[in-house]
Amino acid sequence: MLDVLKIEKAFGTRKAVDGLSLQLRPGEILGLLGPNGAGKTTTVAMIAGLLIPDAGEVRIQGRKIQGDQDPLKRQLGLVPQDMALYEDLTAEENLTLFGALYGLGGKDLEAAKVRVLESVGLHDRRKDSVATYSGGMKRRLNLAVALLHDPALLILDEPTVGVDPQSRNAIFETLEALRAAGKALLYTTHYMEEAERLCDRIVIMDSGRMLAEDTLGGLLTRLPVANVLCVDFDSELTLSAFDGLETEACVSSLTFTRGRLRVGLQDLCLDVPRVLQKLADRGLRWSHLECERSSLENVFLALTGRSLRDA
Ligand SMILES: Nc1ncnc2c1ncn2[C@@H]1O[C@H](COP(=O)(O)OP(=O)(O)OP(=O)(O)O)[C@@H](O)[C@H]1O
Ligand SMILES: [Mg+2]
Repeated sequence: MLDVLKIEKAFGTRKAVDGLSLQLRPGEILGLLGPNGAGKTTTVAMIAGLLIPDAGEVRIQGRKIQGDQDPLKRQLGLVPQDMALYEDLTAEENLTLFGALYGLGGKDLEAAKVRVLESVGLHDRRKDSVATYSGGMKRRLNLAVALLHDPALLILDEPTVGVDPQSRNAIFETLEALRAAGKALLYTTHYMEEAERLCDRIVIMDSGRMLAEDTLGGLLTRLPVANVLCVDFDSELTLSAFDGLETEACVSSLTFTRGRLRVGLQDLCLDVPRVLQKLADRGLRWSHLECERSSLENVFLALTGRSLRDA
């Protein structure tokens, strides 16, 4: 569906995108994850044909877009980072306007309007002006506009910024239904939880370059296993309750703060039962157990030496 081959874009002397390649198949959600200024929007603009790459090539269904009138552009829907809606118009009127830009009219347009309004859960608010919408509702309408002409490739540039959990879930459900219907989705975000929840594959980018590309599972296996056992206690305890435990051969570290014991271990499979037995022998009763899991945040940290949140 989409082939991006070593695209580059500079603004003056600053390289915003520096040799990025990616592929996207039908029925797949590809996450483009990177901090502010990583080059996500610039990448998206080149894919959508809004910016011409300095080098490299974008192919949609195997072909390059040739100018603004190219029918290939109809295969593509873009949900822009900066919302593109007319505040004084109602949702319906916005859709009529954008539908007309795609050459939709008459019965087809009416049917498409109902389809997209229902899919983003705004059908009952269709006659209200956008100025009266919440931020999350505007984001949902922004998505509805991009879906109006039923594109095969949907590009979403941080579509959930400033959105409440309910609207975010509504957006995710819409996107999952589109994936199930065989659409290809490119989803840019700087929220790791979103990439973890939604994306089949994830490209991590920073400073215009791709740092890694894999499934979530594949990215996480690049890190050493965390090997930390966390045990929560409801009762009032102090560190002295665990005296002597840190000298056990299998324990590499031990901390206790706010009711949570964190024990670094050599080998999770062998050492967890040992530690739990030691705790039981002391008559200590825990309320919750878990092993710390590696996260995309750790992957980003390992790749860049920085945290995605502060980057
Ligand atoms: N029109 C422009 N003129 C000059 N520099 C630009 C322009 N657009 C983007 N840049 C620069 O290119 C780099 C990448 O910007 P881009 O908007 O693609 O990042 P992003 O990953 O989308 O970030 P964000 O998460 O903040 O949206 C930044 O350093 C930015 O300042
Ligand atoms: Mg951006």
